[in-house]
Amino acid sequence: MNIAVIGAGYVGLITAAGLAETGQRVICVDDDLRKIEILNSGAIPFYEPGLEELVRRNRQAKRLEFISKLEDAAAECQVIFICVGTPPQESGEADLSSVELVARRISGCARGYHLVIEKSTVPVQTGRRLQKHFAIYGSSSQFQCDVASNPEFLREGSGVEDFFHPDRIVVGVESEKAATLLKEIYQPVLEQTFACPVHDDCGKRSRVPFVVTDINSAELIKHASNSFLAMKISFINMIADLCEAVGANVGKVAEALGMDERIGASFLRPGVGFGGSCFPKDLQAFVRVGEDAGCDFSLLREVERINQRRIDMVVSKIKNELWVVRGKRVGVWGLAFKPRTDDVRSAPALAVIRRLLAEGAVVQAYDPQAMEKAKAEVPGIEYCADAYAAAQGAEALLALTEWDEFLHLDLARVRQSMVRPLIFDGRNMFSRAIMSEHGFEYLDIGSGGSARKPLPDAKQG
Ligand SMILES: NC(=O)c1ccc[n+]([C@@H]2O[C@H](COP(=O)([O-])OP(=O)(O)OC[C@H]3O[C@@H](n4cnc5c(N)ncnc54)[C@H](O)[C@@H]3O)[C@@H](O)[C@H]2O)c1
Repeated sequence: MNIAVIGAGYVGLITAAGLAETGQRVICVDDDLRKIEILNSGAIPFYEPGLEELVRRNRQAKRLEFISKLEDAAAECQVIFICVGTPPQESGEADLSSVELVARRISGCARGYHLVIEKSTVPVQTGRRLQKHFAIYGSSSQFQCDVASNPEFLREGSGVEDFFHPDRIVVGVESEKAATLLKEIYQPVLEQTFACPVHDDCGKRSRVPFVVTDINSAELIKHASNSFLAMKISFINMIADLCEAVGANVGKVAEALGMDERIGASFLRPGVGFGGSCFPKDLQAFVRVGEDAGCDFSLLREVERINQRRIDMVVSKIKNELWVVRGKRVGVWGLAFKPRTDDVRSAPALAVIRRLLAEGAVVQAYDPQAMEKAKAEVPGIEYCADAYAAAQGAEALLALTEWDEFLHLDLARVRQSMVRPLIFDGRNMFSRAIMSEHGFEYLDIGSGGSARKPLPDAKQG
């Protein structure tokens, strides 16, 4: 089958390379000429483990090509995946102008039958609008079109693995033909019958659930999933604050909470809050969708508010320790919104750094992959060659992204190079005992060791 994938970002490129690896012929389109140039030179325009090799192999096998003209891809491909960005507007609503532009260009050139699949994260009822759009703007009388929703659940940093071993594949369709085509496209993944490019000895071979639903429900599943995960993170962060205040240990609380199968252990790690290109924007967009539909979505507004307050929490802890921040040198480990990616969109680390710079701190930072992208966002930082340089001469060191690399450093060397050996562990990635052994003052999140509030007087009788 010939498949067009529009958008060569994190989702589009992984989808295009993944589908090609399973044997489809894929034309991946991006209107960013620089990206197409990079891809056609054999490199990839961002960091994602395993992706460069996958792209290289499938280009060589002539199953994957990159072009900038959507019309050329639409002429050859019956199936078109839309994977363009849907960033937030000022109001929180998703900006669908790139999706609309792609739809406009498809309507202008498409002939015969096409299946147009929205993989970008979009608000519920976007599929309906696309159907209407194609009915109004389809320029050829031979243009026939099914619209489908196929939300993407991959995680940056393990996107390739997630493509081949998803928890489920969700499709929203309104015709048998669309359902059949989508099942055919995903057959190798559903049946796990491909030669796994991720694992030598692939243990994850159970069939993948294929959830077929209406388009509205599929769109809603994506927003509901991300909002639920964000809610878990804000929940444990709220509990972490209480642990600190009353003298409990959030690590133990989270561990025991997660052992309850009804709750589950994932996304119960306290920290400086969630970021990235999905959770903050999808949460905001979902709140808008809910409220526009007249539903009470105040629960999710609170999730967002708790997350925003994480940045205040970090800054106030640092100010409390440093007393006067102006002129003090602060080191930062980690800029990406999470490890194994170079994505800094809505990264908590950048939000913290902006606030420290505004307070007059001198910030020196290191990230294994995200420095180029961070430079474009926050120019006032001294970017360092490695983690040791980021600690050198600092009066406080903030660990804000849990890269593995930070767990294997020579702590004695770090300790010696700092003016004051104060570490704020914003991801609870280090051991308090080891840090104390090395002579650090160690601040983490939600550890009862720093209980501030005295117990209320017990009432007699
Ligand atoms: N990044 C993730 O982890 C992730 C996970 C699941 C879902 N999503 C969703 O997938 C969508 C894409 O996200 P992303 O992170 O890949 O975004 P991205 O910004 O990395 O990539 C989007 C790409 O689309 C291209 N593009 C924009 N308009 C275009 C047009 N008219 N024609 C051709 N190309 C065009 C851009 O140049 C860019 O390369 C978003 O809706 C996002 O919410 C993202």
